[in-house]
This record gives sequence, C-alpha cells and structure tokens, in this order.
Amino acid sequence: MERKAVYAGSFDPVTNGHLNIIERAAKMYDELTVAIVVNPRKSGFFTVEERAEIMREVTSHIPNVKVDKFSGLLADYVNEKGFVAYVRGLRATTDFENELQMAQMNARLFTRDTETVFLMTDPQYSFISSSLIKEVASLGGSVDGLVPEYVASRIAEKVK
Ligand code: COA
Repeated sequence: MERKAVYAGSFDPVTNGHLNIIERAAKMYDELTVAIVVNPRKSGFFTVEERAEIMREVTSHIPNVKVDKFSGLLADYVNEKGFVAYVRGLRATTDFENELQMAQMNARLFTRDTETVFLMTDPQYSFISSSLIKEVASLGGSVDGLVPEYVASRIAEKVK
C-alpha cells in the first residue's frame, strides 16, 4: 500500500523553511501532498491559484510531491484522502503549545490512524514566517536565501 502524507498551510508565500520540510517529508513517504488552505475570510497577498502555481514551480524538482487546495476542516480533507500522516514543521518552542493543541484536536477528528508528524525546522530558517518575508521584501529589504529566487521575483513583481 502506498504511504501518502500531507503538509498543509497558507504558504503565502512558500519559504525556504517550508521547502526544507517538504524535501525531508517527501523522502519519508511515497507521496507528499502540499495542501493550500482556502480561507474565504482571509484575503492573501497571493491568490490561492497563484500560491498553487508558485508551489508547483518550486517543488518541480521533487517527483513525489503533489500540490492541492482544500477548504473547511483539515481533518475532513485528511479523512477523505486517506493520508497516513499529517506533517507539521516546528520552528521554536513557541510553536509547540499551539501545535500540541491542534494535533490533539485533529487526533479526535481523524477517522483513520493518521498521525501528526513533527519535523524540526532547519535552524537557519527558524526565524522566518511568510508575513515577515512579505514585509521585508515589500519594503525593499533583501530576502535572499530565505525564499526561492522564483518567489522573490514574484513578490517583487506584485509589489511594483
Ligand atoms: N518555515 C518558515 N515558515 C514557517 C514554517 C517553516 N518551516 N512553518 C510555519 N511557518 C510560518 C507560516 O508561513 C505562517 O506564517 P504567517 O503566519 O506569517 O503566514 C506561520 O508560520 C504559521 O504557519 P502555520 O501554523 O502552518 O499556519 P498556516 O496558516 O500556514 O496553516 C493550517 C494553518 C491550515 C494548518 C490550520 O489553520 C488548519 O488546519 N486550518 C483548517 C481549519 C481547521 O481544520 N481548523 C482546526 C484545526 S485543529
């Protein structure tokens, strides 16, 4: 049986921290779906379509990665698709409390034996968040090395 996992988030935009988690998780499972959450209450910097297109571009070197979108409850999406694992990245101890809460709630909602699996973020990316990248880049600061070059160029294009 194929072991399929999911890594979910807003990815507005995807950073090198996310990409590092994606590359490592893709080695652990037969297939990794990167699922972009569609939140109708949150208007993003990039549209969900743009985020999916950007994600496809920056993960094109990883053959077992698929890009998808979902709305509503993550657990419903996971149950429907039959993922064996839900991958999360932990950047710092401050992430832990919130992640524990979500993992425990999801454990109640998962109808199969889906495990939430935590990967420690590479320390060189532990301070990054998508909001910080957008803020620095849109004010003209350098985000070199923190996002793929393609992402930096898409942000620059959008800000113009
Ligand atoms: N490297 C760099 N940045 C990272 C990172 C990493 N490894 N991991 C997380 N981040 C950043 C994200 O970019 C994001 O930054 P931002 O807040 O500036 O946009 C921030 O850390 C938070 O990331 P995350 O916790 O993954 O939030 P998210 O909004 O990307 O995704 C969902 C959250 C989609 C997983 C969650 O809201 C969800 O499950 N929603 C569906 C509704 C639901 O089921 N709710 C009940 C849950 S129990």
